[in-house]
Amino acid sequence: MNYLGKVPVGRVLIENNIVSQRSAKSFVKANDVLVNGVKVCDAGFLVDCSGDEVCVNGNVLPRVEHVYFAFNKPAGVVCSTVSDSHKTVYDFMRENKKISKILMERSLTLHCAGRLDCDTEGLLIFSSNGTFTNALTRPENNIEKTYLVTLENSVSSQEQNEYIRKINAGVKVPAEKKSGEFTARGAKVVFRNSTLCEITVTEGKFHEVRRIFGALGNRVVALKRIKFFEFELGDLKSGEFKEIHL
Ligand code: URA
Repeated sequence: MNYLGKVPVGRVLIENNIVSQRSAKSFVKANDVLVNGVKVCDAGFLVDCSGDEVCVNGNVLPRVEHVYFAFNKPAGVVCSTVSDSHKTVYDFMRENKKISKILMERSLTLHCAGRLDCDTEGLLIFSSNGTFTNALTRPENNIEKTYLVTLENSVSSQEQNEYIRKINAGVKVPAEKKSGEFTARGAKVVFRNSTLCEITVTEGKFHEVRRIFGALGNRVVALKRIKFFEFELGDLKSGEFKEIHL
């Protein structure tokens, strides 16, 4: 289990209705909280809630068997829960009999780690472990996301070097309707040919990849996420889910 799949022991106690958010810290200090038989005093101590045994004042807490899925989002599908105009990723989830059965039988809800624009296709990660999906989206965790970018205008070898240099250094991105200007964190770029490249970013600013190339005077005509953290899209078909075992 990766550290991102771990949960502070205080959160485990909150989810088991043993303490409130406010009293978790003092409760762990003042009570007998054991993780795999060893007493912990820090509510922030990380536990793998499907593997580690948590025992509170002599009572062993039930283990939560979290589930993790990769999904290949098609373009034209939105990441929101409801939409009048587009199919949502949650529609795909409901239509998937295997996933619906797992969620119903185990009373789990899936959270999506971040979003992709309606026009962007590719890898999304879902999990019942909200701590895990939150950790994947927190900018300070510097989680790498790699996109395959198709550009409208062909970029010569010399211009490719300029793009790489500027994007490595951090491009200043102008404001657009829903979002102010920002300087993108330096990112890696590898050109596959004059209109196709891979970019690896570590933040998730609104329309970030499209706006980085827009700021350089080009236009992204197709965008596909092929890697997110340690997970790769691989040969997962468009519109399909695959269970991940951490
Ligand atoms: N950057 C974008 O511009 N769009 C996405 O969907 C993801 C990253």
